[in-house]
Amino acid sequence: MTGRFTLTHRLTGNHASTSLRTDVLTGLASRPRTLPPKWFYDARGSALFEEITRLPEYYPTRTEREILAARAPEIAAATGARTLVELGSGASEKTRLLLDALRDAGTLRGYVPVDVSDSALRRSAHRLRVDYPDLDVHAVVADFGQHLGMSGSEAPRVLAFLGSTIGNLLPAERSAFLRRAREELEPGDTLLLGTDLVKDPGTLVAAYDDPAGVTAEFNRNVLAVLNRELGADFDLGAFEHVARWNAEKEWIEMRLRATRELTVKIPAVDLVVSFERGEELLTEVSAKFRPETVRAELADAGLAATHCWTDPADHFALWLATPVPAPVPSPNPGHPAPA
Ligand code: AVJ
Repeated sequence: MTGRFTLTHRLTGNHASTSLRTDVLTGLASRPRTLPPKWFYDARGSALFEEITRLPEYYPTRTEREILAARAPEIAAATGARTLVELGSGASEKTRLLLDALRDAGTLRGYVPVDVSDSALRRSAHRLRVDYPDLDVHAVVADFGQHLGMSGSEAPRVLAFLGSTIGNLLPAERSAFLRRAREELEPGDTLLLGTDLVKDPGTLVAAYDDPAGVTAEFNRNVLAVLNRELGADFDLGAFEHVARWNAEKEWIEMRLRATRELTVKIPAVDLVVSFERGEELLTEVSAKFRPETVRAELADAGLAATHCWTDPADHFALWLATPVPAPVPSPNPGHPAPA
């Protein structure tokens, strides 16, 4: 093995616990009561999500993988990347398709997986180092809302944000994220973005409300996280899973609906929350996109889409974008330069 391995922590020691507390305090005080989806992913939540990706109804993961499998050589050629930076890398098998293509193109030097989970990073980095012995792996433990892991890596870099995870951000967070990405990209770097697309609501709802009940368990798992991390006493059996298509916002909403009136104590944040029977807690939005909207949002952030690849059914899109050079300020504002 000649490749090097480093792991850098960009989370302060108690980042996870302080931001969970803040999120719970603000989210449960607001109406509708809300929890950010990032708290689904403890070990059990991550395992349930992996199970979701194998469900017949959950098309996004396998569709994105198909597009990647078909287009990886084109992506490698278009990016010429020496470094693959991947946000929310998790267990990703999709990564290998990109790494293989970049290796075959002869440009690959390093891989920078960025994830909040130290253990997930160590596990996947270990497996990758076995299969890519020459690859430098610089794992970064970070929350991509705060840190993109771009510093110090060898250019040109491709920043990959796959799985339509961008759809879990609210519109304001999404635009902040894209601007942040734009700031960190240098000329020659690229952004590889996966977006789920608007399609018939039946297909969408089925993907988030599977008959096997895996998504329901995944959804309720966030309450188990609060029970464990904050000493809360949520009765998971008192909440039912709801997946709803919001046609106006064009996103799927996952909610947990109280099937009876109940009071929940959350000692670590000194909070007591009462739910009426039928009251709902919003646990995730998963936005679905129209290609023209993605193009426009990228442009607003200073990014130009150079490629958009889709599957034959147009269920999912993979984008490649480059930073648009900032306009050179005119030395003499108001007076156009002579022709
Ligand atoms: C892949 C994280 C974006 O929104 O589709 C899957 C998460 N939630 N089923 C998505 C998820 C419910 C997923 N992300």
